[in-house]
Amino acid sequence: MKLWAGRFQKEISKTTNDFNSSIAFDSKMYKQDIEGSIAHASMLGQCGIIEDSESKKICDGLREILNDIESGALKIDMEAEDIHTFIEGELTARLGDTGKRLHTARSRNDQVALDIRLYLRDECAEVESLLKELLQVLCNKAEEYADAVMPGYTHLQRAQPITFGHHLMAYAQMFLRDLSRLADAKKRMNVLPLGSCALAGTTYPIDRSITSELLGFDAATENSLDGVSDRDFCIELAGALSIIMVHLSRFSEEIIAWCSWEFKFVELDDAFSTGSSIMPQKKNPDIAELVRGKSGRVFGDLTTLLTVMKGIALAYNKDMQEDKEAIFDAFDTVKMCLTAFTPMIDTMTVLTENMRKAAAGGFINATDCADYLVKKGLPFRDAYKATGTLVARCIELKTDLEQLPLDEYKAICDMFDEGVYEAISLEKCVNDRKAFGGPAKENVIAAVANVRKAIG
Ligand code: ARG
Repeated sequence: MKLWAGRFQKEISKTTNDFNSSIAFDSKMYKQDIEGSIAHASMLGQCGIIEDSESKKICDGLREILNDIESGALKIDMEAEDIHTFIEGELTARLGDTGKRLHTARSRNDQVALDIRLYLRDECAEVESLLKELLQVLCNKAEEYADAVMPGYTHLQRAQPITFGHHLMAYAQMFLRDLSRLADAKKRMNVLPLGSCALAGTTYPIDRSITSELLGFDAATENSLDGVSDRDFCIELAGALSIIMVHLSRFSEEIIAWCSWEFKFVELDDAFSTGSSIMPQKKNPDIAELVRGKSGRVFGDLTTLLTVMKGIALAYNKDMQEDKEAIFDAFDTVKMCLTAFTPMIDTMTVLTENMRKAAAGGFINATDCADYLVKKGLPFRDAYKATGTLVARCIELKTDLEQLPLDEYKAICDMFDEGVYEAISLEKCVNDRKAFGGPAKENVIAAVANVRKAIG
């Protein structure tokens, strides 16, 4: 029997029921639905809208339902229209008329708006803790490899020497921003829609500050139409999750490249790699590839939410039922990716020798060679040109700046002396870059300390 049965002469058709039903995906919110109903029933009692004794019976009944679902004694009926209908129906089956009083001064419209907020608040907490785990791992690795010289790239061309620690800490900054984006979105989400009712509030003397406080919200929504029709928080969170996926995907791309024979900067642990069914030599970075690929799902979820919301008049429309699968999938995907990604990074072997070798090729210290002349008084443009000529000479002689004899240097610019070799040594190039934010070892160590402090 439907909640709205009074108005109808016929039962709903099976096809319509299946099409209309959301229980297959909103049953995930059973706990939040019950938590919200308990707060609502307590408020109704406190405000004298229902008898205290009935309020208490409803709250106890709801707690029993929660226990029974969690112990497996009560199975959620997949034929029900949604989780709200199921729980209210079950309560009524258990309590009779008392159960029927729960829905006073409430609508499924404000109920669902509440449940999603409660559910997503918990989901945010899980993603935050997974991000913090990843940040811990990045800090540990960065500390370990604070002086492991590697090439820094632009255009994927060797550019200037950095350290592996510094490279990892760049990702730490991204994930820190992700944490702050989630916190920020959560702040705006943390207002109570309950009490907006169907769209126009209620004539009952409810007290929304009671429910707000019971459920840990900062305030109640200020406009009943907005309270039931706002899904900005889903869009914002899907945006924040999409950016997490952008970061994970870029990181994955680098891991994939670094695992290749062309780079061989890292080797993934066997437990986090797969082989090929035909090529015995293969060890594939499937986890990183899947994470990179799964970013598409999350961006798709964001697009779904934007599209669902962009054309619907105020207030609630059934289109909005489509919000849940999208935002749930986005959270599930990000959680799954982080769960697989962090131990992969934690267990990978870093091949510092190969990184250093790569950094020693490709004239990565050419800028430092030019800077050396600048420090001796030559204008930067002239120093740049002289160094360019030196690089061309090295290519001609099939050598590099470290091996080029001093008379070759002097032939191009007589300001060069023996000191140039120290000035272009990779370790010096890196460790002299100690301006705030640069790759010098001492900066990396300080950056690690800052991130550890930020994540508590
Ligand atoms: N299952 C619905 C949803 O997820 C609940 C709200 C139903 N409200 C309504 N007026 N039909 O959006």
